[in-house]
Amino acid sequence: MEIRIHPISGVASDSRPVLITPPPDKSILHRILLIGSLTQSAIRIPISGIYSISHDVIATVLALESLGVPVEIFDDHIELHGVGRKGYRAPTHVINCANSGTTARLLMGVLAGQSFGSALSGDVSLSARPMRRVATLLEALGANVITGPEGTLPIMINGRRLHGASLSLPVASAQMKSAVLLAGLFAEGITAVREPSQSRDHTERMLASFGYDIEIDDEIRLNPVTNPSIVDEIVYEVPGDASSAAFLVVAAILLRRRITLLGVGLNPTRTRFLDVLAVMGVEMEAQNVLDSFGEPRGDLTVFADQIEGALLPLELSDEDIPLLIDELPILFILAMFSEGVSEIRGAGELRKKESDRIAVSVEQLRRFGVEVMEYEDGLSIVGILERRLQPCTIIHDGDHRLAMAFSIAALFCTTEVELDEAEAVCVSYPDFFEHLRALCGRKHVETIEP
Ligand code: S3P
Repeated sequence: MEIRIHPISGVASDSRPVLITPPPDKSILHRILLIGSLTQSAIRIPISGIYSISHDVIATVLALESLGVPVEIFDDHIELHGVGRKGYRAPTHVINCANSGTTARLLMGVLAGQSFGSALSGDVSLSARPMRRVATLLEALGANVITGPEGTLPIMINGRRLHGASLSLPVASAQMKSAVLLAGLFAEGITAVREPSQSRDHTERMLASFGYDIEIDDEIRLNPVTNPSIVDEIVYEVPGDASSAAFLVVAAILLRRRITLLGVGLNPTRTRFLDVLAVMGVEMEAQNVLDSFGEPRGDLTVFADQIEGALLPLELSDEDIPLLIDELPILFILAMFSEGVSEIRGAGELRKKESDRIAVSVEQLRRFGVEVMEYEDGLSIVGILERRLQPCTIIHDGDHRLAMAFSIAALFCTTEVELDEAEAVCVSYPDFFEHLRALCGRKHVETIEP
């Protein structure tokens, strides 16, 4: 699919809010599917439409189907029937995790303690991403994982009896932490895990809300599972994805349009992005806040129409990074249009995402005519206050978050530009271009039919 972006000529602030329902939170959806599959419950997950479901989540659904878990996506909900911790069936083929790192790494944890062997593969991008560090953590619990020579997919997991252990993560990573905790559900003894700084905590919250014995402090301790509580039927409402919504929020800020995100997740390990916006000078307000299964959500209005003058530059370092790792690509775009020099350091993990997000962003920002300095662990960006970028060929390396970030930036090129392989956005946000149209007007985002 090709998208042609037509330039926005002038920006006039608009206080009528654009209402957006973000896609369901991808991190939470993966987890409710995996953790739910290990219960004995029928779980109904309401969704706002089949196109709100990301391709990454579909990879987890298909993986569960190959493990014998009844799961189906309908127009308005997903239905899952938990089979219990011992109820998976040995897969008859290699499980393809497509582009989804969360599917691969969380499944590694779940599969390590099974009584059968399994194999995981992925697409070209996922097959270049590190899996050995997850394998090493699981091996400390007694697992047997064989990775490719580069420590990557495809991998073999020979299910084994697992034992508890006390582990320290080499980097703050929710995927690594979750792989260990999910393996811990099958271990004899206590599984404890520490991370160098806080990463998103959906796994811990979900395990606690499902009645597992988990203590959350500087260290997370999962006590051995004895009798998990059995609930016949659960309706699990997944909040909107704050990381996907971040892209629309930045678009709204650049367009000076007020935006309201309906039912967006407000878990504090996901809202550092909002704190950063507040420091830059953006005002916002959350209403109708409620908590369900330990996950807060609400309707968040960002008063982008009230921004006067230029935004302050960004300054991000080590501790911030794990809490806004997926929002960094769109923060680069905001930094481009902010005052002074923004500096983002401590973000080396970005090089290990769906693409090398530092290298590709540096190259693309330079194509837009922006002055950028590249470091091993980040970049600095010299803001340009007049929103006029050089038209150019957009490169995004098939990376969904870069495709979204650069298409928002492209609205401010001096003439139209084209985005190839725009379907990459479906990995996390299939409705992205529709939602962008709601914000900037249909004529600025044209789909070119082949
Ligand atoms: C995720 C964790 C993050 C994030 C990814 C989703 C998760 O990765 O980048 O998109 O659902 O656990 P880390 O493992 O680097 O925290």
